[in-house]
Amino acid sequence: MSQNNHFPALPPEQLAHLLTNETVLNALYDRAKNMMWSMVQYKELQMLYSCALKEIQTKFEVLDTEFKLEYNRDPISSISTRLKRTESVMDKLERKGLPFTLVAIEEHIHDMAGIRVICSYIDDIYLIADALLRQDDITLVARKDYIEHPKDNGYRSLHLIVEVPVFLTNHKKLMKVEVQIRTIAMDFWASLEHQMKYKQEIPDEKAIMDELRDCADVIRETDERMLAIRRRIEAASDAPTEEDILFEKLAKFDIPIQ
Ligand code: GTP
Ligand code: MG
Repeated sequence: MSQNNHFPALPPEQLAHLLTNETVLNALYDRAKNMMWSMVQYKELQMLYSCALKEIQTKFEVLDTEFKLEYNRDPISSISTRLKRTESVMDKLERKGLPFTLVAIEEHIHDMAGIRVICSYIDDIYLIADALLRQDDITLVARKDYIEHPKDNGYRSLHLIVEVPVFLTNHKKLMKVEVQIRTIAMDFWASLEHQMKYKQEIPDEKAIMDELRDCADVIRETDERMLAIRRRIEAASDAPTEEDILFEKLAKFDIPIQ
């Protein structure tokens, strides 16, 4: 972070004199109060982002429950959420040449609230992404498909920036959430690659990057083969009759719903 140079160092006697001046003291007090208000408002904004995450997480959990009940499928393997750390917010705003203000955050930082959804199969990624985007309170702001178009390093994932309303006592507020959806294998790869990105001065970095790129190819192929196998298994089983479906649902009658 850059140094704040608004208050150049003063000789102690000059500083002592300034601090007895009422106008200076009032100005300092007002400034401190404004800073504290900004901190409180920032905390409140974080709370709204955290509520938006709960909304989106619930939507995914509902979809997962529906699929378990209706189709005997378990599209979502796990979900995790995070709020962007304040230090990262400040760094990102500085990189963009923007001030650390609430307006700048809301308009330019689209990943304040992040949710990562991990699926077993590639088709589940699109299935749940489309199901989310069909919901009438969700607005798609941006979509990046790094599965169709992987990054040069091999990174694959579906990214969505969506807007979701958070309902408060007297009004609703639209909040942006970054959604990353990927398979277990893609996530495994991304975690390792992320570790490498934040290590400084790795001697054989180029060799590791090449190796990671190779692994990304193997993972893509494995994801595709696993999906093909699952589809073959599904195709091999007879379509269930109405009675099969009823008995299967009855068999699960007392299993707690998750
Ligand atoms: P940021 O400014 O970093 O948020 O990137 P962006 O606005 O260009 O968005 P992008 O969709 O490319 O990336 C958003 C997020 O996806 C990142 O913050 C990471 O969490 C993840 N991501 C993107 N690219 C990579 C990558 O190459 N490796 C890993 N491990 N994660 C990535
Ligand atoms: Mg980001």
